Amino acid sequence: MAKRVAVIGAGVSGLSSIKCCLDEDLEPTCFERRDDIGGLWKFSTTVCSVTKRPDFSETGQWDVVTETEGKRDTEVFDAVMVCTGHFMNSHLPLESFPGICKFQGRILHSQEYRTPEGFEGKRILVIGLGNSGGDIAVELGRRAAQVLLSTRSGAWVIFRYTDGGYPVQMMTTRYRHFIAQILPSRVQNWIEARWLNKRFNHENYGLGLTKGSKWKRIMNDELPTSILCGAVTMKTSVKEFTETSAVFDDGTVEENIDVVIFTTGYTPSFPFFEEPLKSLCTQKRFMYKFVFPSNLERATLAIIGFLSLKGSILTATELQARWTTRVFKGLCKIPPSQKLMAEFTKKEQLIKREAKEDVGKDKADYISYMDDLASHTGTKPNILLLFLRDPRLAWEVFFGPCTSYQYRLMGPGKWDGARNAILTQWDRTLKPLKTRFVPDSPKSASLSHYLKVWGVPVLLASLLLICKSSPFLKSVQGKP
Ligand SMILES: Cc1cc2nc3c(=O)[nH]c(=O)nc-3n(C[C@H](O)[C@H](O)[C@H](O)COP(=O)(O)OP(=O)(O)OC[C@H]3O[C@@H](n4cnc5c(N)ncnc54)[C@H](O)[C@@H]3O)c2cc1C
Ligand SMILES: NC(=O)c1ccc[n+]([C@@H]2O[C@H](COP(=O)([O-])OP(=O)(O)OC[C@H]3O[C@@H](n4cnc5c(N)ncnc54)[C@H](OP(=O)(O)O)[C@@H]3O)[C@@H](O)[C@H]2O)c1
Repeated sequence: MAKRVAVIGAGVSGLSSIKCCLDEDLEPTCFERRDDIGGLWKFSTTVCSVTKRPDFSETGQWDVVTETEGKRDTEVFDAVMVCTGHFMNSHLPLESFPGICKFQGRILHSQEYRTPEGFEGKRILVIGLGNSGGDIAVELGRRAAQVLLSTRSGAWVIFRYTDGGYPVQMMTTRYRHFIAQILPSRVQNWIEARWLNKRFNHENYGLGLTKGSKWKRIMNDELPTSILCGAVTMKTSVKEFTETSAVFDDGTVEENIDVVIFTTGYTPSFPFFEEPLKSLCTQKRFMYKFVFPSNLERATLAIIGFLSLKGSILTATELQARWTTRVFKGLCKIPPSQKLMAEFTKKEQLIKREAKEDVGKDKADYISYMDDLASHTGTKPNILLLFLRDPRLAWEVFFGPCTSYQYRLMGPGKWDGARNAILTQWDRTLKPLKTRFVPDSPKSASLSHYLKVWGVPVLLASLLLICKSSPFLKSVQGKP
């Protein structure tokens, strides 16, 4: 009989998990508390609790209690995939802002923000420069009287497109990853900073990183323009609030603030677990490869999508789900809980003594993480072998974008269409942009084009000239 798997949440992580269960002949039941997409799953069903069954150490089974329109139900599952996202609980650090309780304007968290309607003509203070802070400040900058964007650390602003107008995420290649592995992080940061400051000088725009801050990037195409136009004004961190104004760390005061929007992020939570699982799972370092809790004697509970990554999370959640379903089936093994707990305790002690940084707080490296998961399922592409067998494909896998097709070239879940998908991925990327076909349009040849065409002949001719005019060669030739 197929193992029954409860999939909690029908976002991208939940949908990939359902597919991976089906690929492995497991029987998924998806619970989604919203009713956004209808049909196949148990929609408008909230999972209230997930608890170990009394015989958990033998069976690894879970009791899952759900609620649908006020009606409670309990079902037994052989395994559980938690795909509830980690942006449900807003982080609202009001205690860090003296005087905020006196403030008479409107206060909200970015989670409550939907559209700029209702903010017209207001003076708005946005606190926190993450992706939400950047997006909301730019959007409101078009309608509000003034948007002030307060940041403690600053951030590097990356555009969605890069040189030549190509999508920046398509620039994540194995070749660049290889270079990054051999260069010290200081050198890498220096190169990146030079490149980013070439577009606009971050310091001049009030975005430069504060001394001692961690390297932080946000993605935003319009923030520099909004600052340039005066629609958004960068500010330091807030020292205190009065009834109507904000006093900043640099001593400046902004009067008549109507609205404060905290774009201060989220805290993870798993309200349906019992303690200590409930608290432990909120710490990424407690999770083996960000997926399996360290303290379970049976690996029948996985958390999918609970990671921060320097790249697309969608590709990673699919790989997590592929690995997890194979662990559930017993086709892949994870270390025993005693070993995982010993490692976790060691990490805890080192972090407490500040001898080690909590890596769980940083974004994981995209290709390293994906390759690591793929090596557990036997789906990591073997580049050397690929160069011998199929050099054209290997070239694209190494120098081209590291897309999810690469993990469908070999091993379980191999897809025959993967090769063609990789070789044609740029066509699909550019097709939606090329909506106007211009026959015989004049092409402005780039420097690299001229170098390619003329570089070799010019180099050969120069070498010939140098040889001919070299006094040494002349003297050698002149000798009898
Ligand atoms: C404002 C914002 C913008 C973002 N923009 C981007 C972007 O442009 N690109 C990008 O890659 N990522 C973006 N992200 C990150 C994005 O959230 C993730 O990439 C993606 O949504 C993660 O998918 P998920 O399935 O893991 O979680 P979610 O999409 O959050 O899905 C979780 C699902 O679980 C359900 N659920 C939760 N608890 C229960 C329960 N107890 N019972 C039943 N169902 C439950 C929820 O209703 C929800 O449908 C953004 C995040 C935020 C907050
Ligand atoms: N377009 C997109 O792709 C998009 C859009 C929105 C969100 N997202 C994703 O959604 C997730 C959440 O993003 P987010 O921007 O909401 O949160 P976030 O990335 O956690 O950023 C929150 C910011 O709030 C500030 N902050 C945190 N604690 C604070 C405190 N105690 N006091 C003052 N400031 C504090 C920090 O900025 P300072 O250091 O500057 O003060 C921090 O960078 C991320 O994964 C993000 O990538 C993506």
